[in-house]
Amino acid sequence: MNLEKFALNGKTALVTGGSRGIGKAIALQLAEAGADVLITYARSAEAAEEVVRQIEATGRKAKAVQADAVDFNEAEKVVAVAQSEFNGLDILVNNAGITRDTLIMRMTEEQWDDVIRTNLKSVFNYSKAVIRPMMKARSGSIINISSVVGIAGNAGQTNYSASKAGIIGFSKSLAREVASRNIRVNVIAPGYISTEMTGKLDENILKSIEAQIPLKRAGEPDEVAQAVVFMASDAASYLTGVILNVDGGMAM
Ligand SMILES: NC(=O)c1ccc[n+]([C@@H]2O[C@H](COP(=O)([O-])OP(=O)(O)OC[C@H]3O[C@@H](n4cnc5c(N)ncnc54)[C@H](OP(=O)(O)O)[C@@H]3O)[C@@H](O)[C@H]2O)c1
Repeated sequence: MNLEKFALNGKTALVTGGSRGIGKAIALQLAEAGADVLITYARSAEAAEEVVRQIEATGRKAKAVQADAVDFNEAEKVVAVAQSEFNGLDILVNNAGITRDTLIMRMTEEQWDDVIRTNLKSVFNYSKAVIRPMMKARSGSIINISSVVGIAGNAGQTNYSASKAGIIGFSKSLAREVASRNIRVNVIAPGYISTEMTGKLDENILKSIEAQIPLKRAGEPDEVAQAVVFMASDAASYLTGVILNVDGGMAM
């Protein structure tokens, strides 16, 4: 087997929400696989700079840009930075996301809008910004982070699961639009992964979730990142429009 196909040497990646959690693990592993990496963040400047330092320590180029993923114009500016300061842009990982969990009886319009804008509109913003340069280059890999909740649903998460299901429909449509230009669009659907996002949950709820996972444990951010590195690499050259569940068997 040609293991070089799994490497990302000479490639540039952009990861939205790369300051913490799954996005941080993705940024670090893309760099370990050989890519230069640009990350965005909303608030955590210090954490983002630490990710940059860790990537630079591996010998790869890195930069963190504060950019609200909701903002269409900022997405264009971030992609312009990737074009001018890095050597083009080969890989986009749409990872930035939030939760505003509550039952629909209590859900405010603001909680609905915040989640749909941050999780779904952001995917449009960044995909739209990269698609022209990727089409010109006749190559690219876009990886969108959805969730098992976008497939199976979850009480208390109508806004979040709608955003994550929306990502799946968006990705399959875009995959069909751009396949002829050798641009692949895939979805990673993580299950329950240990990050600050899930750290907000009550311990008893966590235990009951873990009991329902066939592998009987939460996943680690690195386990999601490994799947992203594979999807980004030439080893996945015949995969497009795929949903890869990284969930310990949760959604099968
Ligand atoms: N954890 C899980 O179990 C799980 C399961 C399935 C899917 N996911 C998905 O995986 C992704 C990452 O989740 P996580 O658990 O790593 O969450 P997290 O620990 O809360 O980290 C979220 C990241 O997104 C960034 N972000 C949030 N809002 C943003 C905005 N408006 N603009 C730019 N960046 C923004 C944050 O930046 P700041 O640090 O600046 O706030 C942070 O880097 C999300 O899309 C989430 O829905 C997570």
